[in-house]
Amino acid sequence: MNPLLLFEKWFSEEKKLNKLKLPAACCLSTNGLDAYPNSRFVSLKEIANESFVITGPLNSRKGREIENSSKAALSFWWPSTERQVRIQGDVSKISNSDAKIYFKQRNRDSKIVSAIFEQGKEIQSIAHLQKHFEQQKREYDLEEIKCPKNWSGIHIKPIRIEFMEFKKSRLHERKLYEQINNEWEITILQP
Ligand SMILES: Cc1cc2nc3c(=O)[nH]c(=O)nc-3n(C[C@H](O)[C@H](O)[C@H](O)COP(=O)(O)O)c2cc1C
Repeated sequence: MNPLLLFEKWFSEEKKLNKLKLPAACCLSTNGLDAYPNSRFVSLKEIANESFVITGPLNSRKGREIENSSKAALSFWWPSTERQVRIQGDVSKISNSDAKIYFKQRNRDSKIVSAIFEQGKEIQSIAHLQKHFEQQKREYDLEEIKCPKNWSGIHIKPIRIEFMEFKKSRLHERKLYEQINNEWEITILQP
């Protein structure tokens, strides 16, 4: 089975059981500029062109790290089905037209936040943050909020995907799919 199809199957099984608000949350790890790995949660938008799609500003820390090293990892833990998926892959930027489509799908407050703030930059205080947001929200009124230049997304094209299913017996099942000569090869790993 193509591991991306297995991923979709596991993900939909989890979503059926899981009452979490953000079932698409996953941990994105990048190679830090100082060589310390750097992880943060993001939301998986979808799988497109055999790649995992994540969106957001690309001039923040993660964007700078990806610019420097195009290798990344994505990890999922699905508590209802007790499954973990670990992905490693190569990163490329999504097209400007796709960025605009994903941006359009965001709610208005999220669009305003992306348009007026620089993710990761220092701000004086939380009060300042709120005041600036309310002020800008009033100014935008009903105006359309365009996709900011720095807002885009990435494709992570997997080279390795490991599926792990917890078992009460502790004999957790681990299957590693690796891309070798454009084919997916499967190895069963010890728990
Ligand atoms: C559940 C969850 C989902 C998130 N989704 C995204 C996302 O899709 N895109 C994004 O840029 N940041 C997302 N964030 C915020 C990131 O964790 C992080 O704070 C932000 O991207 C800045 O990271 P950076 O400084 O490494 O660039 C999410 C945070 C959480 C807790």
